[in-house]
Amino acid sequence: MPKEQEQRNKERFRIFLYLIPPVVVACVCAAALFPTDFFPVKYRLFISAAIGLFLGTLMAYAISGFLLQHINHLRLGMNKKFRDNLSETASEKNKLETILRQINDGILTVGLEGEIIHANIAAQLILRMSDEDVKLKNYDDIILRFSDDLTLEQILNYLEQGNYGGTFSYGGSEYEIRFDKFMDENGRGAGVIIILRDVTEQRKMENMQVDFVANVSHELKTPLTSIKGYTETLIDGAVEDRNMTMDFLKIINSETDRMNRLVKDLMELSLFDLNKEKWEKKDVDIVALVRTAVKKMGMLAISKRQELNFFGMGEGPLIVHIDEGRIEQVVINVIGNAIKYTKEKGKIDIGILRGRGWVHVTVIDNGIGIPEQKLSRVFERFFTVDESRGAGKSGTGLGLSISKQIVRGHGGDIRIESQLGRGTKVTISLLLQTHRGTPESDH
Ligand SMILES: Nc1ncnc2c1ncn2[C@@H]1O[C@H](COP(=O)(O)OP(=O)(O)O)[C@@H](O)[C@H]1O
Ligand SMILES: [Mg+2]
Repeated sequence: MPKEQEQRNKERFRIFLYLIPPVVVACVCAAALFPTDFFPVKYRLFISAAIGLFLGTLMAYAISGFLLQHINHLRLGMNKKFRDNLSETASEKNKLETILRQINDGILTVGLEGEIIHANIAAQLILRMSDEDVKLKNYDDIILRFSDDLTLEQILNYLEQGNYGGTFSYGGSEYEIRFDKFMDENGRGAGVIIILRDVTEQRKMENMQVDFVANVSHELKTPLTSIKGYTETLIDGAVEDRNMTMDFLKIINSETDRMNRLVKDLMELSLFDLNKEKWEKKDVDIVALVRTAVKKMGMLAISKRQELNFFGMGEGPLIVHIDEGRIEQVVINVIGNAIKYTKEKGKIDIGILRGRGWVHVTVIDNGIGIPEQKLSRVFERFFTVDESRGAGKSGTGLGLSISKQIVRGHGGDIRIESQLGRGTKVTISLLLQTHRGTPESDH
């Protein structure tokens, strides 16, 4: 007999046993009350008891079967519901855990005793907590490493006053913190949920935007003020003096050039920003490209009586997949800087080196150099080391920033090394193209 059947029979027998006494008693009473003269009076009690016992047992047996069926039915229903509920709860829990894990904000649940109920990965990273810390440490022990005024007691005080957040800084990073109470099932306060967000990058971007607008306005205002001044002087009568007029017009012309350069650079930058720039990439011999750029800059170097050397002849063609115009612009920019920031009779060496999978274009000058503490900033927009040095006002401070974006847009890199008073070396690295579409594998 299958086990289930055996089990069911046992249960039925148990129900049957429970049912016998009441059902039998009921049947005996019914039989006793049955009005009949059929049996002699002295046997009546005995017979009705026998009939009651027989019928009662039969009925108890039938009822037990009926009940067992219903009980099983109910039990099955309840089991299914229970299982459903259980799996629903488990899947809700999993869902929540996945969300908490994926979220970039740190989320921390703290009980009223300061015990850490839950801390997601981001919270552990922000507050530099190990799994052990989460299990064993009190919230205050953790937060006091970073801030004095965000203990649980203080947070509860802030909440009393209707204050739901603040900021704190640590190790050069800035964090936004928000908190709120959570309740237990009876609506009583059970603890606080604390949300932490690293806003360092966001703040940096905001500051950069403010700086950018200020810089653009300043850069445009300077030539405009100068143009306006000279024009007014001319209108006020200076125009009578032909020599003076010529001088003033030359200044106005050069200031207009400066504004033109600036606007052109800005437009280029905004194109990169919006990623609208469409590269017209094709296979180009970088050696030929650099040779042409050196030729183009030759006149400028001669005007400063500088030596401009190109060492790339022996290399033969080296093919890179690039937007020719853009990369030429970068090379010209870097050579232009070398000429601009190198004194008369200085020396500029331009070389091409072949690495494994890469080609490096180097521009080395023996010019004024860049102070070490400013070196990391030269790729920033509008950054110029010192206007009073070398080239004065002729630069916008956008050249290297644009160059970097172009090179990066090609999957390459541009680096600068310098020693103040001794010279500067700029290296432009691009991926070599051995076969069309597949750069050589290693760097
Ligand atoms: N070869 C170099 N020698 C010395 N300083 C340099 C050199 N190249 C760049 N710099 C410094 O980096 C700053 C940023 O360069 P860049 O973005 O090209 O702007 P700029 O328009 O002033 O040339 C320059 O203002 C200059 O101070
Ligand atoms: Mg420049």
